[in-house]
Amino acid sequence: MKTPIYLDYNATTPHDPDVISVMQPFLTEYFGNPSSSYLYGDQTKDAVNNARRQVASLLNCDPPEIVFTSGGTESNNYAIKGAAFNYQYKGNHIITTQIEHPSVLEVCKFLELNGFRVTYLPVDENGIVQITELEKAITSKTTLITVMHSNNEVGSIQPIEEISNLARGRGILTHTDAAQSIGKIPLDLERERVDLLSIAGHKVYAPKGIGALYVRRGTQLSALIHGAGQEQGRRPGTENVLEIVGLGKACEIARRDLKKNMVHMKKMKEKLYSMLQEKIKNIKRNGQQDRQLPNTLSLSIKGLDAHTIISKITDRVAVSAGAACHSDKIQISHVLKAMNVPEEWARGTIRLSTGRMTSEEEVDLASNIISEAVLKLLETNHG
Ligand SMILES: Cc1ncc(COP(=O)(O)O)c(C=O)c1O
Repeated sequence: MKTPIYLDYNATTPHDPDVISVMQPFLTEYFGNPSSSYLYGDQTKDAVNNARRQVASLLNCDPPEIVFTSGGTESNNYAIKGAAFNYQYKGNHIITTQIEHPSVLEVCKFLELNGFRVTYLPVDENGIVQITELEKAITSKTTLITVMHSNNEVGSIQPIEEISNLARGRGILTHTDAAQSIGKIPLDLERERVDLLSIAGHKVYAPKGIGALYVRRGTQLSALIHGAGQEQGRRPGTENVLEIVGLGKACEIARRDLKKNMVHMKKMKEKLYSMLQEKIKNIKRNGQQDRQLPNTLSLSIKGLDAHTIISKITDRVAVSAGAACHSDKIQISHVLKAMNVPEEWARGTIRLSTGRMTSEEEVDLASNIISEAVLKLLETNHG
């Protein structure tokens, strides 16, 4: 059976073949515990430290500032809870946005049940936080600002440099969830100067279940997991050496090929959009192009439901809905709601995300399949 064309790289990415090959010996040959002080341990300890350097090099930070975790969700949990609880003596107010991933929003909700106050900043119609709104929200009790680097649904890129400048001047910590930005746009901690930054391996052609948290030197976090002293005591548990090695390689490749990949992903996205736009009248894309991930196309089709569109193409093209269907009710995503996308457009929103492996042939084929299905549905709707 022919597999569907994959246009959902924001959900996850396939493994890079070079990532697989560097991981292979850690399945077959190198099995030592990095904490052991003999050859077997040295081999895996060196591999973990090499990966730490590779990740740090992509982010432009020092290797000891990288803590390996199980992925984006854990990194976000550790950063936000760790900072909130550690600096509780200074204040109990946290600022975030309405468009964060659940691994931030649910942590904030948990903190609200535990004595914290959280401000959820609105975004403009392009899904971007306004600095003036952030400035207004800061109080003498604010200890942490957590704003995602880029949004997973619409791809909007946030003004992280301005946010961290503002926060630093007031002694407030900043965290950013960069799970979607890694490998798609430059990340530079010297420039963006946040205190905490989360990444997820499976968004950058490494395996699922591995990620990292950047912790700026001197930043104290309350422990999330208690145990032995691995990862400088910040993340106890014997290291996931196999996947750490994979993440390291993936970051090395991401750094090396970033420019080339950005150009390719954007070219594929633009081709997709122009082909669809040519054929479908009731179509528009969400977000502001020059402040958006190069690979993300959030597409609204007026008068249709996303799940109906997807049901017609799912055996041939894999994309995500911007609205979830629970029983027969459509639930507009919190991101599109926050952006004030009118309901008749939001209901028919699908997310297409291109990747390194996306080819021109795939784009040609996918746009034909999608436009054919959409035109047929619009015809029956109005017929
Ligand atoms: C913006 C964002 N943050 C966090 C995560 C969670 O990462 P993980 O799946 O590695 O836990 C995702 C994954 O979808 C994401 O898109």
